[in-house]
Amino acid sequence: MHISNRLEGIGEYYFSQKLREIDELNKGGKQIINLGIGSPDQPPHSDVIKVLQEETAKSDVHAYQSYRGSPVLRKAISDWYKKWYTVELNPDNEILPLIGSKEGIMHICMTYLNKGDEVLVPNPGYPTYRSAVKLAGGKCIEYELNEENNYEPDFNQLEKIAVFSKSREPVMVASPAGGGQEGALKLMFVNYPQMPTGQLPTKGLYEKLVAFGKKHDLLIVHDNPYSFILNDYPMSLLSVAGAKDCVIELNSLSKSHNMAGWRVGMLCGAKERIEEVLRFKSNMDSGMFLPVQLAAAKALTLGKEWHDEVNRVYKERRKKVFELLDLLQCQYSKEQAGMFVWAKIPAAYKDGYTLSDEVLNQANVFITPGGIFGNAGEKYVRVSLCSTAEKISESIGRIKKFKIEN
Ligand SMILES: Cc1ncc(COP(=O)(O)O)c(C=O)c1O
Repeated sequence: MHISNRLEGIGEYYFSQKLREIDELNKGGKQIINLGIGSPDQPPHSDVIKVLQEETAKSDVHAYQSYRGSPVLRKAISDWYKKWYTVELNPDNEILPLIGSKEGIMHICMTYLNKGDEVLVPNPGYPTYRSAVKLAGGKCIEYELNEENNYEPDFNQLEKIAVFSKSREPVMVASPAGGGQEGALKLMFVNYPQMPTGQLPTKGLYEKLVAFGKKHDLLIVHDNPYSFILNDYPMSLLSVAGAKDCVIELNSLSKSHNMAGWRVGMLCGAKERIEEVLRFKSNMDSGMFLPVQLAAAKALTLGKEWHDEVNRVYKERRKKVFELLDLLQCQYSKEQAGMFVWAKIPAAYKDGYTLSDEVLNQANVFITPGGIFGNAGEKYVRVSLCSTAEKISESIGRIKKFKIEN
C-alpha cells in the first residue's frame, strides 16, 4: 500500500519509537531506567478514583455522550479557571472538553488551516505542533527561543515575519466553507510554562503575545498543561484583557492531576472559536466516557494541598536530578517549572543525542536529547521528574560507575 502524501516527512512520534527500542534493550536483559518521558507515575487523588468506580457501577452511564462534553465537567472547568486563573468562562459555550489536549492541537490545525497556510511554532517546542500543522497541510514557521532572551520569542523577528507574510499576494480559492485564501499566516502556538525549557511566563510576555495576535489578526493558541507543576502562580493567557479576541487555550489534567492515561483536556476561548473547532471534532469522536468526565470534574475541585503534595514529591526528585546533571557537567537554571529539567550539555559533546546515547549505552539510563524539540535544542538534554527518587539515585550510581570505569 502507498501511504498518503500527507505523511511525507512525518515519522512515528519520537517517544513511540524510542520506547520500543528501550523495550528491546530490556528484553535483552538491560533494565534501562527511563528518565525521558513526562508521564506522571503517581496516582490521581483517591476521591477521583472513587467517583470513577461509583459512576462506572451505574447502569445508565455507558451510552455515547454529548459532543460538547458533560455540563458537570464544563461547569467544573469554568469554576477551576475562575478560582486559579481569575478567568471567566461561560460553561455553556466557551469550553470544549477534549480527549487530552494533544488531540486538540490536531483539531485546531484541521479547523483553521488551508493548504500552505503558515503557523508560527516554537523552537524548541512540543513536536506535536509541527506534525499537526504538516498533517493539516500547513507550513511551520519556526521562531527560536533562546536562553539569552529568557526563552521568550523575539518580537522584532515575529513582526518581520508577520509583515512579510501580509505583503504577499493572497492566493484566493473558491471555498464553500468561506476559507478563501491559501498560504496566509494564521496561527501561532505558544506554551508557557514552556516545554522543554521550563521557562515561566510573565504578565508582560502574555500582554505582548495578545497585542501581537490582535495587530496581525492571528489566532494565538496557548498550550498550558504545566501551570501547576513546580509553580506557585498558575497563569492563563486568557487572563489578559481582551484576550478572547485572538486567543484560545488548551489545558489538561494529565500533569496537574496525575491523570495522563485518562485523557482529559480542554479547549477554552470565545464561543465562536469553540463552535468552529467542534465542527471538526464532532466528526472525529463521539464524546468521552461519562464516569471519566465526572471523576475529572471531581479532580478540578481539589485544593492547594493536592498541588502542594504533588510538588513536594517533584521538588525532592528535582534535587536528585540536579545532582545527576552536575555529574554529567551540564548547566541548568534552578527556576524551571514543569516536570522536567532542561540542561545545557558540556562543550565536549557534539550534541544532546551524543550525550543521551552515551548515557543509555554505558549506564543504561535514558535521558531525552534536546534536539527532538527542534534544532535550537541540540545542545541540551531534558531529564524527567516522573521517576522515583530511588530510581534517580540508582541512575546517579550507574553514571558514577561508568565515569569511574572510563
Ligand atoms: C507541551 C505539551 N502540550 C500538550 C501535551 C499533551 O498533553 P495531554 O496528555 O493533555 O494530551 C504535552 C504532553 O506531554 C505537552 O508536553
